[in-house]
Amino acid sequence: MPSHTVRRSSVEFSACTGKKHGAGKGKGIDSFSNPRPYGPGTRSAGGPLAPGRHAFCRAASIEASPSYSDEDDRRTGSAATSPPKRTLNDDSHHAFKNGHQIPQLGLGVFQIPPEQTRQAVLDAFDIGYRHIDTAAIYKNEQGVGEAIASVGLPREQLFITTKLWNEQQGYDSTLRAFDESMAKLKLDKLDLYLIHWPCPQRGEFLATWKAFQRLRDEGRVTSIGVSNFRVQDIELLISETGEVPVVNQIELHPYLQQQELCEYHASKGIVTEAWSPLARGGEMLADPVIKALADKHGKTAAQVVLRWHLDKGFVIFPKSVHAERLRENFDLFDFSLDADDLSKIATLDRGQRIGPDPAVLN
Ligand SMILES: NC(=O)c1ccc[n+]([C@@H]2O[C@H](COP(=O)([O-])OP(=O)(O)OC[C@H]3O[C@@H](n4cnc5c(N)ncnc54)[C@H](OP(=O)(O)O)[C@@H]3O)[C@@H](O)[C@H]2O)c1
Repeated sequence: MPSHTVRRSSVEFSACTGKKHGAGKGKGIDSFSNPRPYGPGTRSAGGPLAPGRHAFCRAASIEASPSYSDEDDRRTGSAATSPPKRTLNDDSHHAFKNGHQIPQLGLGVFQIPPEQTRQAVLDAFDIGYRHIDTAAIYKNEQGVGEAIASVGLPREQLFITTKLWNEQQGYDSTLRAFDESMAKLKLDKLDLYLIHWPCPQRGEFLATWKAFQRLRDEGRVTSIGVSNFRVQDIELLISETGEVPVVNQIELHPYLQQQELCEYHASKGIVTEAWSPLARGGEMLADPVIKALADKHGKTAAQVVLRWHLDKGFVIFPKSVHAERLRENFDLFDFSLDADDLSKIATLDRGQRIGPDPAVLN
């Protein structure tokens, strides 16, 4: 049980005020009674099946739930095996345009090796995390699924996101890829499905989105969104499909603050999810401004950066395989940054990406 003081977040989702591609450096229930498979031979609104594309050839080189209560646990009978934890995750959710909610803090599992994923997710659940962000390309959906299946928490307490990889974009291939992800996750219904990258030169994200809409309309996924989309990609999506994605998950940290894109999100009611919120734990955590704020608040540099994200209204899911860091990254709710702190961090923006540029990744 985390020792922090639980404080209801007062954050409203609002406009944010204020290296080089490095992803390759790392190691890189509502029961849905009749989930429909999209196997070979399935016909769809998109016409006959195109040949499946299952190669993840460039993969390795790149890269609502309602609040629950003790009463919920008593009803589901899970309390005996898994004592309920009151955490800020229970209280701090962002509302999507569609009325569903997402916990503002979760665990990201990019670069967690498949064989370590189950334990990392179980450690996170034990600390109180209820929101997990994975992707087909991370090759660890199975470990996430095993952790979910073994933890014994009621499905409705968990918020699970996965993402469609670029090679699977297109109407029919999206439907098949979704089935594959759901089988690995062992889920009947997903909370949030994202298009991982727009891949503008592929020209397939509109067809992909139509498949996402079908999955949502059939009740197999609650909410659909995008990742790494630029303003022009979202504008095209809206003008061609008439629907605004609930989230855009983008690289975002004090060295890459993306103010214009965040303001655009706010104008459309799109929740901003910040990936690599710690900029992968590199030089940013040794920045003198961040270190001074850490000293001021008696917290770590990572906690100051993560608190900045929360205070800005971003949804975050820092990754760690270490239980101590998982606890540290969850212990954010006994302090907040003041206006002066926020204005100091605003000066750190360097427009510095650690991941690929969405304009060129295809
Ligand atoms: N949509 C996209 O294109 C995209 C791209 C990248 C990431 N993501 C998502 O965003 C999540 C988070 O991003 P990320 O994994 O790239 O980077 P991150 O969360 O910013 O940083 C993770 C790195 O920081 C270290 N770390 C964690 N907590 C720390 C702490 N308290 N102090 C010091 N170092 C710490 C971790 O090491 P240890 O594990 O050794 O503790 C790991 O090396 C991913 O897991 C994934 O779910 C999405």
